[in-house]
This record gives sequence, structure tokens and C-alpha cells, in this order.
Amino acid sequence: MRLTDCHNIADFRELARRRLPWPVFDYIDGAADDELTKARNTAAFNDVDLVPDVLAGVEQIDTSVTVLGRKSALPLILSPTALQRVFHWQGERAVARAAEKAGLWFGISSLATVSIEEIGALVSTPKMFQLYVHKDKGLNASMIQRCQAAKFDAIALTVDTIVSGKRERCARSGFTSPPRFTPSSALSYALKPRWALDYVFREKFALPNLDTHVDQGTGEAVSIAGYFNTMLDQSMTWQTAAQIREQWGGAFALKGVMSVADARRAVEIGADAIMVSNHGGRQLDGSRAPFDALPEIVDAVGGEIEIICDGGVRRGTHVLKALASGATCASGGRLYLYALAAAGQPGVERAIALLRDEIERGMKLMGVTGTSQLTPERLRRR
Ligand code: FNR
Ligand code: LAC
Repeated sequence: MRLTDCHNIADFRELARRRLPWPVFDYIDGAADDELTKARNTAAFNDVDLVPDVLAGVEQIDTSVTVLGRKSALPLILSPTALQRVFHWQGERAVARAAEKAGLWFGISSLATVSIEEIGALVSTPKMFQLYVHKDKGLNASMIQRCQAAKFDAIALTVDTIVSGKRERCARSGFTSPPRFTPSSALSYALKPRWALDYVFREKFALPNLDTHVDQGTGEAVSIAGYFNTMLDQSMTWQTAAQIREQWGGAFALKGVMSVADARRAVEIGADAIMVSNHGGRQLDGSRAPFDALPEIVDAVGGEIEIICDGGVRRGTHVLKALASGATCASGGRLYLYALAAAGQPGVERAIALLRDEIERGMKLMGVTGTSQLTPERLRRR
């Protein structure tokens, strides 16, 4: 199977599965507990149907939106995800360059394997830093200051990881940051020589936004669950979020809001956007799907704050359904991570191009020439 055999995100998932050691694939593909929420995140889009208009004159269409103060060529953000140079040696650099070519927002994680400074200098398109609030307050301040100096365009404060979800696939595989080659997993790494040679002989693993203050995750191998449960600040409150917004001073989003009450609180503290998200099902299994939660959140705070539907997106029509439900745009992680893992920057570029074509085709078949025409009347819930 090759890159040119990938015609949708599911194809990229299969190519990634074939090319990655299974502990690494399972870290990307896996979710919490029974993975019911991860499945529902995507299935939720199947419960509504699009109602097209015809003969609408759609030769020229505009797929762009403005979100967090910057124009995006598509209503789609590449969500921040950790450890990308473990998936493919090009890592965050590949995603940044592919996002820039496509004119999209993308985000890097606090657990990125490329530094804030390098990403800030690498691309001119909108970039978001996803902040994990650590117990180490000096580290939190350091990351915010580095983002200010590197002229990042937004900070997304992740609020749904106060403790780690139960990542059973990672517990079985022993996946850690950095990956440890244990007797049980060593064979899985050895059976993927292309990945193993890249990982061993190319640039050494690092978490350059964290290793200035903490060793865990870099020098000291730790599971993601272990990292969350020992390093992150479980005392975080809405006051913490308001203080961070103040400290940062730029465009500010809360990532992981799922309730109407919290959406209203986000408005009260002056957040510019909420990412309605359950972390791709990796945290609270049994949590509602972002797409299912959208209508009541849009009813409550639509027009007062930008609403990003994050999670489960695998098709351009999923993006169109999210917009018609009132989202400002959609976002996703696996939709580009499978492609990164499978084929680096060319993979991410192809995945974005496939989704762009699906968005364009979908808008034309819907009879809309601009994203603002995607309104609730164009949907019917089954
Ligand atoms: C993530 N996600 C995530 N979120 C975050 O705030 N900080 C992070 O470091 C990461 N890391 C991460 C790694 C991997 C491998 C995955 C799959 C996801 C969650 C991510 O930003 C996004 O919310 C979900 O990926 C959305 O679900 P989909 O699009 O993957 O279905
Ligand atoms: C994850 C963390 C890193 O979902 O956000 O794996």
C-alpha cells in the first residue's frame, strides 16, 4: 500500500497501521476505556442528513472562515497533538509546513517534539500553542513567555485532562514518552525497520518546551497517563484559566468544553473561542460527542464566542455538518496524524487536499457559495 493508494482518512489509518510499530499506532488510534466516545464522535455525524439546494450557481465558492482573528482557507484547524516526531521523524515540522501550504491554523502541544521558537520561525500562517497547566508554575510562565516572544497567534488551554483517561491500549503496550524498548515491545519496533532506523539514527527525541524545567517525558520515560497524573495541576479552576488568559494577552481558547454551563463560563472570563471537545475520546469514555453537544451550546452562546467542533471529523461533509450546526469551524487530530505517521509531510498535504476537495465538492452539491450559508435549515436529524 502506498501514499497514492490513500483516497480518504480511513486509507491513511490503514497505511499508518502497516508502517508503525503497534505501540505507536495504538497511542494514536487508541482512546479511553471501551473507546465508545471515540466511536460516537464520528458516528454522530451520521445521525443528521444534509439538505442540498440545486441550480444555485456555484462555479465560484469561498471555503474560508475567520477564526481566532485569522483567516483560514478552510473551516478546519489541525488540532494540537503530542509527540509527533515519534510518529514520523519530520513531526511537527511536517504538519506546520503542510498547514502553511494549505493556509490553515495548526497547533503544537506542550508535549511537542519541536520547540516553540522553531515553529514560530518556521511558518507565517496562524499557529496555536496548546497549554497544559503544570504543577511547576515556573514552567507555565516560561511556555507563555516563549509563545509571546515567538509571536504565536493563540493559546488553547486544555481543560479536560485534570487526570488522565484510562488508555488501556497504552497500558498493554507499555507505550511511554520517550518510547522504551522493553522485551515485550522491542520486537514490535524491530519489525518496522524504516520507523526504527529513523527513530534511532535521526534527531534525538526531546520535549523542548518542557525539558527546561522537567525531566519526566524526556530523560525519564513515563506513560502519558503517568505524566498527566503526576505533572499537571489538578487544582486548576476557572480563576486559573482567567489568570492565564490575562497573562497571555492574545487570542485565547479553552479546549475541552462540553457543557452549556462551561461554555457560558468561558464567555464570562473573556475567552475568544471554545473547542467543544472530549479529547478524541481519550479522556472520559461515555462523554457526549462534540457534534451531539453542538446545538445546545450554539443556542446558549452562539454569537458570543467562537465555537470549534473538535473530534471525530474524518470527512469534508462532517465539517459541513458542524458548520450547519452553528460551529465557526471544525478541528481534528487523527485526520492528519494517520497521514503524518504514514508518509510525513507529503502525507499530511495529501490528507488536507482530500478534505479540501470533499469540502469544496460538498459545498457545491449543497448549493452554497460561502460557509456562512451553511445554516441549521440545511440539516435534518433522523
Ligand atoms: C491528542 N490530543 C491532544 N490534545 C491536547 O490538548 N494536547 C495534546 O498534547 C494532545 N495530544 C494528542 C495526541 C494524539 C495521538 C491524539 C490522537 C490526540 C487531542 C487532539 O487535540 C484532538 O482533541 C483530538 O485528536 C480530536 O479527535 P480526533 O480528531 O482525533 O477524532
Ligand atoms: C494525549 C495527550 C498527550 O491525548 O493529550 O495523548
